[in-house]
Amino acid sequence: MKAICVIGSLNIDMVAAVERFPLPGETLTSVGYSTYFGGKGGNQAVALGRLGANVRMVGKVGSDIHGSDYIRHLRMNGVDTSGIRAVKSATTGVAMILVDPQGENQIIISPGANGLLAPSDIDENWEHLMEADIFMFQLEVPIGTVAYAMKQLKGAGKTVILDPAPASQLPDAIFKHIDYMTPNETEIKYYAGRHQQYVLQLKEAANILLRKGVNTVVAKAGAEGAYLIRDIDLQHIAAYPSKPVDTTGAGDSFNAGFAFALATGSSPEEAVGIGNAVGALAIRQVGAQSSMPTKSELDTFLRQQEAYRRG
Ligand code: RIB
Ligand code: NA
Repeated sequence: MKAICVIGSLNIDMVAAVERFPLPGETLTSVGYSTYFGGKGGNQAVALGRLGANVRMVGKVGSDIHGSDYIRHLRMNGVDTSGIRAVKSATTGVAMILVDPQGENQIIISPGANGLLAPSDIDENWEHLMEADIFMFQLEVPIGTVAYAMKQLKGAGKTVILDPAPASQLPDAIFKHIDYMTPNETEIKYYAGRHQQYVLQLKEAANILLRKGVNTVVAKAGAEGAYLIRDIDLQHIAAYPSKPVDTTGAGDSFNAGFAFALATGSSPEEAVGIGNAVGALAIRQVGAQSSMPTKSELDTFLRQQEAYRRG
């Protein structure tokens, strides 16, 4: 099995369940509240750890109680945390999240220590990084650091996966270092600079990214599943049925499933299917990481789905 390294954010998610989202200037009372481990980087790493991947993480937390809790939590989930630093005088990243009864969310991020991840952290971890084959990025740490790391890693012959979330301006030079870019519907339009209807424009939008230098676009389409787009080729890989309770972290779980499958030798097509399955399982409970499956839970789910499909 190939080793995977996640370079990214670690947040504490403060999640309030609301009947509906507040209007500007309005105060609402929540119907439930809890804190969870989150952040796109941490979510991907934990999902991989649960699946039994060989996974390590590079990131930063504050030297507060949240930071040490998070490092312990990662270890308990099978993640190598030797690339995580606790920064003095910084707070651990926080995400304030509202979830409505439909499972939709609204999120405010306070990056804290995540905002301090620097190119020097990549250099300092270089030897350790070279032991991994597949690298996963998201956009909750400074883009300059992401761009620097991708360039170095691509140069070293590694596989680079970018989940371009949350949508942020990217330097043009970054695209040619991306093997797999996994935008959702909003993000693909953002990066392609198009604002038209999704399905009609999907291929066109993906082609803009391919022309910029991305090798393969994996467009996540929520309940529709995902599209794998290379050259002139567009393949739709259907989602598994799921009743969303909280979609927070669905994309992170998809990415983890996708990377895990690649690491174990699956084709990109198969890997998208595994991403869909891990995503479907992860949205069944409140909290980004609460219902991320183990390998055996994933296998059981895939068997059930296969039996169901055959009638
Ligand atoms: O992708 C979901 C994550 O986005 C949440 O866990 C939250 O921390 C935000 O960063
Ligand atoms: Na969840």
